[in-house]
Amino acid sequence: MTIHIAVLASGVGSNLSAIVKSIASGRLEGRVKLVLSNKPDAPVLDIAREHGIPVWARDHREYESREAFDADMLEAIRANDVDTIALAGYMRMLSPMFIRAYEGRILNIHPAILPSFPGVSGYVDAVEYGVRISGCTVYFVDEQMDHGPVIIQAAVPVGPNDTPENAIARIHALEYRIYPQALQWLARNRLSVEGRRVRLRAAKFPNAEIASCQTGALGPWMICPPLEEGF
Ligand code: GRF
Repeated sequence: MTIHIAVLASGVGSNLSAIVKSIASGRLEGRVKLVLSNKPDAPVLDIAREHGIPVWARDHREYESREAFDADMLEAIRANDVDTIALAGYMRMLSPMFIRAYEGRILNIHPAILPSFPGVSGYVDAVEYGVRISGCTVYFVDEQMDHGPVIIQAAVPVGPNDTPENAIARIHALEYRIYPQALQWLARNRLSVEGRRVRLRAAKFPNAEIASCQTGALGPWMICPPLEEGF
């Protein structure tokens, strides 16, 4: 199935670019129907426009409440026939009302290995803490910050002389691989969630994705969900 994605973002938009590239190359069966931002001057909007993707951008400070802003976003999302929401550097908590409207269909990417280093400066906090491994996590969004069930994580080594800046460059390179991969699993209805546990359903037709999970072809540092029992 082709998923219809709305991307919510507040910043640069490199993950949007990665999603768009994955769609163009056929690795992700999806369409980005709309890009929404709470920052009307965010560079991500230029990337969307370059690709001919409609944009919706409003300054959240002009709204009386989080719910009022989210309700406006929802209206735009619903008008664009969207079934999946990908947060990509969206720097605001979503209201419970918004999350319930797309329960189980909202994904986020975080630049750290959750549950360590949640929050707005995850990769900086990890390097400053002196970790030896950092990375990124794609998860289903729930009502708590950086908390929902984990779909896939990828790890990078962090050296003693690394700065947050060079660590994030390595983390980004993995984000651009695992986020489209997680979305593709959703497109193929391959993800099942039980409590906090995410599993990968058997593919209807054996394909490259499953092979790559089993053989480590995604890279030894990208850890997929376990396959459902019985496969
Ligand atoms: C990424 O590092 C992502 O993990 C975090 O915000 C950043 C967004 O980067 N949630 P970009 O705007 O996609 O370049």
